[in-house]
This record gives sequence, C-alpha cells and structure tokens, in this order.
Amino acid sequence: MIDTLQIKITENSNPRLASTEFKDIPFGKIFTDHMFIADYEDGEWKNLQILPYGPIPMSPAISALHYGQAIFEGMKAYRLPNGDVSVFRADKNFERFNISADRMAMPTIPEEIFMQGLATLINIDKGWVPSQENYSLYLRPVMFATDSSLGVKASDTYKFVILATPTGPYYTNALKVKIETKYTRANEGGVGYAKTAGNYARSLYPFAEAQKEGFDQLIWTDSATHSLVEESGAANVMFVLDGKLITAAVSETILNGVTRDTIIALAKDKGIRVEERKVTVAEIIEGAKTGALTEAFAVGTAATVTQIGEIGYNGALYKLSEPSTRTISTSIAKELNDIRNGVAPDRYNWNWIV
Ligand code: PLP
Ligand code: COI
Repeated sequence: MIDTLQIKITENSNPRLASTEFKDIPFGKIFTDHMFIADYEDGEWKNLQILPYGPIPMSPAISALHYGQAIFEGMKAYRLPNGDVSVFRADKNFERFNISADRMAMPTIPEEIFMQGLATLINIDKGWVPSQENYSLYLRPVMFATDSSLGVKASDTYKFVILATPTGPYYTNALKVKIETKYTRANEGGVGYAKTAGNYARSLYPFAEAQKEGFDQLIWTDSATHSLVEESGAANVMFVLDGKLITAAVSETILNGVTRDTIIALAKDKGIRVEERKVTVAEIIEGAKTGALTEAFAVGTAATVTQIGEIGYNGALYKLSEPSTRTISTSIAKELNDIRNGVAPDRYNWNWIV
C-alpha cells in the first residue's frame, strides 16, 4: 500500500482498551478508541482524520436523517498466529461500497481513502483486535449525506466514517427462521443489492412480527410471487439439497455477499456441486419433508456460517437435520475460519495484512 494520503491523527487521551473486558462481547456495542473520518465537499474528499471515537456534531436537518442517503459495509480483521492483523477480502467490500454509493446517488470513495483509512485505524487500534477463537475486529465503514436543507435531492456533502468494534459470534445457536410471504425486503428496480440503511429499516417491522412468533430470523422471498427464496435479514442463505450446494443467484434484489462468494469458491474446490439459480420455496419445503434437504445455513460477515435448525412456512414448522450431521457446511466453515485465522493456506490471497 502506497502511503500517499495525509491523514491527520488525534490520539485518544482517555483510551478504554486497558479497561475493556473482551469476554462475551456483544456485537457492535463497544467501539475502539478511534475512528476514521473524511468529508466530501466541493466535489472532493478532504479532511482525512483519525479522531477519538465519539459523537460528531451535526445539524438535525442533514438529509441522511430525512431522506435516507446512507450506505455501509461490514468486514472483519483477524489476529494471525504471529501477531499480525489481516483483513478478509476488503477489496470486495470496497467494490460493493461504491456500487451502493452509485445506486444511492452518492459520490464514490477512492480506493486509497477506503483502504488507508482502514489500515490507519486498525494500526492505531491494533490492541483491540481480539485473539480468542471466533473473535475478530468488525469494521464498519459508513457514508451519509450531510446537506442541511430539506429539498429532496442528492446531497452535495457527505461524511465517510470507519468504526471498529471487537466482536464474537453474532448468532450462537442454530436459527429458527420464518419464510416471509407477506412483507418484502426488496423488489425489481429497487435498491436490494445496495447495502443501504433503508433496506434494514424496512425489515425491522416484519422481523419484530416474526420474533413475536418465536423466530430468530426471516428468509425473504421475491416480491412478485413469494415463491422464490432470496436471502435473510443480515446474511445470504444456502442449502444442501440432494448433495448439491444451492443458493439464490445474485440479482437486483439480493445483496452480493462476500461470504457467499467465498463459500462458493471453497465448495467448488472441494468438488461439491454448486448451483446458483432460482431457489423455490417449494423445493426447500419438499426437501425438508423428504430429508433430501440435509443442510441449511446463513452466511455473512457478522453471521459467519450459522446453521438453520428449523424453518417455518405458512404456519407449519419443519425441523431440519441435527447441525452435528452437516458435513458440507461445517467443513467449509472450518476451512474459511482457518484461512482467516492464518492457519490454512490463503491460496486466493484473501487476507490483507495491514
Ligand atoms: N445480505 C444482507 C442483507 C446482509 O446484510 C449481509 C451482511 O453483510 C449479507 C447478505 C452477507 O454479506 P457479506 O457476506 O458480504 O457480509
Ligand atoms: C455484516 O455481516 O457485515 C452485516 O452487515 C450484517 C449486519 C447488518 C449486522
């Protein structure tokens, strides 16, 4: 990485690292001592800074709050056995961030700002990268519109911020998921493929309804027919049906997950047949009934590989195989973990040592 950018560093004079308990850290609640921040004004990115993590003064009129121009990313940094820190596939998150920016009529971010912002933040907060098994430092770049005026138009000014938060597993048990047939997460011509705030906002009410019914998560279906499986609230979903790994092909309505892409590559290398295609609810339910569906799991940065234990559909509940019998997803998940933790060969150069 060429160090060409001027990043002003203001160190935190009251660091919390020494007093932070790293055991059982809840997801995304404890932030590191610093954050990276940059401003977009007059058509360019400027004021690149590392600041102590904390509040940012802002007008209550900023357009992100009113009209939702806000996008984000999520990736993880891991502690390697030799003490180095590596970020997993940050180049893919960078690409997707700019795809989201483009769709939301926001400026793209230059690669060197995204990457050097990450590297500088991680280096200053290196002591925050956990070394316990299944822990990592979750990195959350976010960009939001900061024009303080109420006309509905793309903002002229933005902030780009990177936050870092040490984290353990997002889910700890196999999930009970509901196949959603009333509400939708995304539709053709919409913004489903962008990692934008509104996609999450619209999912909260249906998610809360499903939680009242005892479910942990939703599986979204297509808006037109509710007959095709799309993805889950914070992860893509995969199935092993008749021995093949199947998952919805990426489309306008599905987030193109980095974990999804990674798992597909690892599965193919293991000689597993992979099908990226339309996945029907009917075939999943039929497979659950006959036993042809041997595995179901959610895949994402926060979620990693999380087993799905039960599927609810139209009032019926289908119990799937015991997670301990799921050899395909567990062997891929193990290899993925080993690569990220630097204990298996990184043959695709996915780890970026910062
Ligand atoms: N789908 C949604 C809606 C998500 O929020 C996420 C999480 O980022 C994913 C899928 C999985 O994507 P990734 O593996 O890149 O984290
Ligand atoms: C991630 O996995 O990085 C996500 O963005 C999921 C998140 C919404 C909790």
